Order: sequence, then structure tokens, then C-alpha cells
Amino acid sequence: MSLPAKAAPRVFSGMQPTGNLHLGNYLGAMVRWVEMQASHECIFCVVDMHAITVWQDPEDLRSQTRAVTAAYIASGIDPKRTILFNQSQVHEHAELAWIFNCVARLGWLNRMTQFKEKAGKDRENASVGLYAYPNLMAADILVYRATHVPVGDDQKQHLELARDIAQKFNNDYAKALGAAGFPDGFFPLPEPVIMGPATRVMSLRDGTKKMSKSDASDLSRINMTDDADAIAKKIQKAKTDPEPLPSEVAGLETRPEADNLVGIYAALEGSTKEAVLRQHGGAQFSGFKKALVELAVSRIAPVNAEMSRLLGDPAEIDRILADGSKRARAIAAPILDQVKDVVGFLRG
Ligand code: TYM
Repeated sequence: MSLPAKAAPRVFSGMQPTGNLHLGNYLGAMVRWVEMQASHECIFCVVDMHAITVWQDPEDLRSQTRAVTAAYIASGIDPKRTILFNQSQVHEHAELAWIFNCVARLGWLNRMTQFKEKAGKDRENASVGLYAYPNLMAADILVYRATHVPVGDDQKQHLELARDIAQKFNNDYAKALGAAGFPDGFFPLPEPVIMGPATRVMSLRDGTKKMSKSDASDLSRINMTDDADAIAKKIQKAKTDPEPLPSEVAGLETRPEADNLVGIYAALEGSTKEAVLRQHGGAQFSGFKKALVELAVSRIAPVNAEMSRLLGDPAEIDRILADGSKRARAIAAPILDQVKDVVGFLRG
């Protein structure tokens, strides 16, 4: 059986259970996942194996894995319809990652900007896992032969690497793949899905820096666990410039903070920056921020409340993850078996 020219779409994405989920994770990825779930076969993962590429306290890792799972469900991921699981329960990811470690080239990984950012100046002291991280990410996706990957803009380079790995595997093993009935290659080249007005949510303190879990200032981000007062305080304190809002998107080009707040507003409202500026163009930030607080609280508070409710029953969350892992393995195991045959591994 050969891979159809256009493989049936299968969506895969993941998030690390490290620290609080923030508005960037929610608007850049999660909202898109919930949309795609309505029309596609989706597999969403809590990537705990990626998390330990930097030190994680074991107890914290367990509770963060549950918290991220609760955030997925509270945001609208339906674990019955969609496969929702934690990465370490599906060992096929790690096995395929090893094979990809042997496909990917050192030069490719040396170009990864996220490794450079995360390792910082103390590169010699970074874990090997942090360096090889993108190969595991490629395995996450390709062990399901997933075709579409909804992510924020910061994951683009990793997705390009996943495509390079898929292509090189298909080329390197072309002969064996042809003999095994895959003359057109085995892995699809996964497409990044980076869409909407908030693919790169920026820090509230500095419109040129990405909103991130690792920023030392909690004022830089809105956490999905923040209450209404905290959300209001952070938006009121968000950095702006002295001009009123422009009425055209072009007027945001040299104003990163204004651009960021308008993008956040549009994403929360499910509209576009154009639509937001049609309504608020000419307004002072004081008034716009008030409207933004109201909108943000109305979107985040219910997610927050549902997360707390779900976390009240950790055994149920564990059960959901175990069930999702079983379903994920049912897809991944036969794919990995085919890969092992093609590579030349004997198996009983
Ligand atoms: P992670 O855990 O850093 O982030 C999860 C998702 O949130 C998006 N994101 C943002 N989007 C917009 N603005 C921001 N400021 C912002 N910050 C984060 C990320 O782009 C991501 O979509 N390597 C991945 C996890 C991963 C993965 C995968 C993703 C592991 N395997 C396979 C897709 C497919 C990561 O660290 O995401």
C-alpha cells in the first residue's frame, strides 16, 4: 500500500507542562486546536519528555502535567472525540526519536535558534536532550504520520526541521520503502498551521519580546490561572505609547505594543485587527484597555474556573491520559513497526 498523494489529514500538536500556561499558548495554539477538532482527526499531547530537557522537580512535573491537561479540556478539547495524552506513556515517540537522531544532521540542529536562546551562554552545560529536542518533536508528529501541526510562530523552525527529517528518511530509505510498497515515501511532510491575529503574542512589558513562561516578570504575561484582578492589573500596567490607536492596521507597524494589544483583542474576540481598529481606531489606550480587560476576563475566567474544577479530581485526569495514551499507541505502534522493518531491525 503506498502513501496516497494527498494523505488524509491528521492533526498533531503539543505543549510543555512547564509553568503556567499563558495567553500566548492559549491564543497562539489552543484556540486553533479547538477549532480544528471540529473538522479533523486530532491528537494533542502534553509533552512531558520535552519538559525534562531542562530540570523539572518530579512532583511539580506531575502536577503541571495534570494542570496542562485540565487547561486543554477547560479550553474546549473533548477527550472523547480527540486523543489527549502525555508523551511519556507512548514509548514509540522515544524509539522513533532515536532513529531520527541518526537521520538528522548536526548542522541542522546547530541552526536551531530556540536551542541557542534556551542554552544561553552556558552552552556546555545544556543537556544533550535540549540539543536533540527538535528530533523528538519530529518523532512526535511523524509517529502518527500527522499532516498538520497547529502552533505559534515560534515553532516554525522546528517544523521545517521535521519536514527535512521526513524528506531525508524518505530519500535515504527509498529503496527499502519501494520494496515495502511505499514508492512515494513513507512520511508526509507535515504542514505548520500558523494562523490568526495572535500567532506571536508579545510581552506586556516589551512589545519586541515574546510572551513567555520563562520571563522573570509576571507582569509580562497573562496566565490562564490569573483571576480578574490580576488580569486587570496586568493590562492596566501594559506598556503602550502616547498616541491614540490608529484606524488602519498599517498604522501599527512601528508600534509593537499597540500592535500586540490589538492582536490580543482580535484573537480574544475571534475577529481581526482590522475589525478591532474599525471599532476602536482613534481611542486612547485608557479606554481601549478597559474594554480589553472586560473581554479578557470574560474569556479567561470560565476556563480558569473549569480548570480548577477538573483539578479537584486528579484521578479522573490520570484516567483520561491513560485512555488517550492507549488510543495513541494503537496508531503509533504499527507505524513504528513499519519503520523498524524499513530500517532493517529484526523484530519477533
Ligand atoms: P510550548 O510548550 O513552548 O508552547 C505551546 C504552544 O504555544 C505556542 N506559543 C505561543 N504562541 C503565540 N505567542 C506566544 N507568545 C507563544 N508562546 C508559545 C507555541 O508556538 C506552541 O504552539 N516544542 C513545542 C512543543 C512540542 C510540539 C511537538 C508542538 C513538542 N512536540 C510537536 C507541536 C508538535 C513547545 O515547546 O511549545
